[in-house]
Amino acid sequence: MVAVASKGVKVRKSLLARLSWPSVDVDLRSSWRIGTVEIPTRLVLAPMAGVSVQAFRRQGRRFGAGLVCSEMVSCAGLHHRNERTLGYLRIAGDEHPLAVQIFGSDPPVMAEAARMVADAGADIVDINFGCPVRKVTKTGAGATLLENPARAAGIVSAVANAVDLPVSVKMRRGLEDGARTCLELGPRLVDAGAASLTLHPRSARQMYTGEADHTLTAELVERVDVPVIASGDITSRARAEAVLATTGAAAVMIGRAAQGNPWALSAIVDDAMPEPTREEIAAELILFVRETVRELGEQRAVGFLKKFYSWYLGRGRFPRPFKQELVLLQTTEDVERRLLAAAPGARDVLERLEDELPNGDEVLLDLPISVYGGG
Ligand SMILES: Cc1cc2nc3c(=O)[nH]c(=O)nc-3n(C[C@H](O)[C@H](O)[C@H](O)COP(=O)(O)O)c2cc1C
Repeated sequence: MVAVASKGVKVRKSLLARLSWPSVDVDLRSSWRIGTVEIPTRLVLAPMAGVSVQAFRRQGRRFGAGLVCSEMVSCAGLHHRNERTLGYLRIAGDEHPLAVQIFGSDPPVMAEAARMVADAGADIVDINFGCPVRKVTKTGAGATLLENPARAAGIVSAVANAVDLPVSVKMRRGLEDGARTCLELGPRLVDAGAASLTLHPRSARQMYTGEADHTLTAELVERVDVPVIASGDITSRARAEAVLATTGAAAVMIGRAAQGNPWALSAIVDDAMPEPTREEIAAELILFVRETVRELGEQRAVGFLKKFYSWYLGRGRFPRPFKQELVLLQTTEDVERRLLAAAPGARDVLERLEDELPNGDEVLLDLPISVYGGG
């Protein structure tokens, strides 16, 4: 009886709170700023480990993301000049504005990593206080820092003092379900020098279950005077507009919805976007494959790309056996050949796409790894 009554009150309260928030219409195509960096649209492509390679980010920019982010980069890996970690600092000329995200728990090492990120040509240094994965949290990094405000603020201040770039922080709501830690921590991080905050309002324990609770995003917006980016479960234009209007966030971040589906981005910034044809899908995938091979090399790319085949070709776009066939192919040349056989018209689309793209050799500003002595 009591439980039912209190549940009822809770529902009514949250509904009232939502209705009483000011509703602000934000044009998704309008520009905004993080510090001095101008961002041309209200769409941010999420940092995603194992996904956010250069090809993904450049494609994100082409399809309407105003800001793209690298996956999280280990500050310890940068400190030790680990070759693969240094590779994450390769930035292409046509992906700006770009945030490179770093994670770690030691302020001086994070400051050093931030300087390397700035030297590599990033526009923003983003700090990860959200990663819930044990491999990261057991080192005192990622989401654990939500429970250690003094150290978290120390990291932000060390990083902000180390570079001239704006510093942003991405966090979860807290460690445990129902936590509101982010609301206390957020203002402290801004005082320490954060020029923007991104909130993925799930707990670390939740991982990706349940729903992102953007009522918390609205509360965070109320408490800080820097732009807040809303992350979590934003998959459509209607949802993006609703989250912007009810939270007062400056921008929305799109993650899983854009995996193998850059058209989700253009459908959010541009409401009249038609569904892509099979030829367009095959052509984008081939371009993605080629760019990824250039970035990671054939051997690493073959394994890395497998998940992208289902993402691109799923959603009823191609028959299931076809996706399975691609995953089994041993070389990316075979993948390309098979895609062109299934959608011959993709060849023309690909040519058009390549004509529109800046010449890859001019664009790829390879990080001079030798600068850092990386192997
Ligand atoms: C495969 C994967 C990898 C991720 N890696 C990172 C990461 O490196 N850094 C980070 O801050 N968030 C990471 N995230 C979280 C996303 O940036 C985003 O906050 C989350 O997926 C919720 O947004 P969505 O519902 O739009 O996917 C990752 C998410 C996924 C699914």
